[in-house]
Amino acid sequence: MSNHFEKPDHARDDWTIDQGWSDYTAEDHSVWDLLYKRQIDVLPGRAAPEFMDGLKALDLGKGGIPEFETMSDELESLTGWRVVAVPGLVPDEVFFDHLANRRFPAGQFIRKRDQLDYLQEPDVFHDVFGHVPMLTNPIFADYMEAYGKGGLRSLNYAALKNLAALYWYTVEFGLIRTDQGLRIYGAGIVSSKTESIFALEDPSPNRIGFELERLMQTDYRIDDFQQTYFVIDSYDQLFQATVETDFAPIYERLQGKFDYRPEDVLERDEVITKGTQAYAKAGGRFAEAD
Ligand code: PHE
Ligand code: CO
Repeated sequence: MSNHFEKPDHARDDWTIDQGWSDYTAEDHSVWDLLYKRQIDVLPGRAAPEFMDGLKALDLGKGGIPEFETMSDELESLTGWRVVAVPGLVPDEVFFDHLANRRFPAGQFIRKRDQLDYLQEPDVFHDVFGHVPMLTNPIFADYMEAYGKGGLRSLNYAALKNLAALYWYTVEFGLIRTDQGLRIYGAGIVSSKTESIFALEDPSPNRIGFELERLMQTDYRIDDFQQTYFVIDSYDQLFQATVETDFAPIYERLQGKFDYRPEDVLERDEVITKGTQAYAKAGGRFAEAD
């Protein structure tokens, strides 16, 4: 989500473009296959079962970059969502409007082989592999639509950052507690090999129980692994705290307040694991361990 750029000439008014599937090169498809394989090596036992189910239902591992129309027909039959191609990041209100109408805007391009881990803008692997599987889950699908509607509504308040933090700490970097232990469901984690391991196994980040107003005031790192992950108990908990809660009084209370740093642990937090913060103190990025 961001607002400071212009619509490319080839994009429609709603910022969508043709996916142009037949223009992908053999190299593009093979980068997808490589990324897919790296994730499949680390995700079983780490990713939430709902994510794994979604991957399977959409047959995302059949080889090559998925064709959006075919994939959307399948997805639509499950939860009514479709995937539309966009050039990259789109303005907030455009993004919210797509979500509010059960359209997930996905980057059309794919990263290069020498940039498997670093991305400035979400590409088709992050957007499709990371986000689309969870859209096969009925509760999560409803949450995403409601988020879009809530986003449009929030434009009347000074609440964009608070709402962006909610997206960040759930849709992008959420963890969930299961009987088998913590699992990842956030798209930014499940589409990254190193963060899939880091988010669950590294001692440095905090893992804190989901509390809506707390995480809506928490800043986040966009250029490195997270220093705090928020953990939901169930998608029902997330749904109740968000979809079934009127945010207007919350916005009134918060007045755009955004006071907590990514690494903070508060007295009121339900601390699941308190991070050593060793990673952050060492200055960020660990050497890539492939
Ligand atoms: N219920 C929120 C509101 O009243 C909207 C919302 C739903 C926001 C789901 C985020 C996620 O504005
Ligand atoms: Co994303």
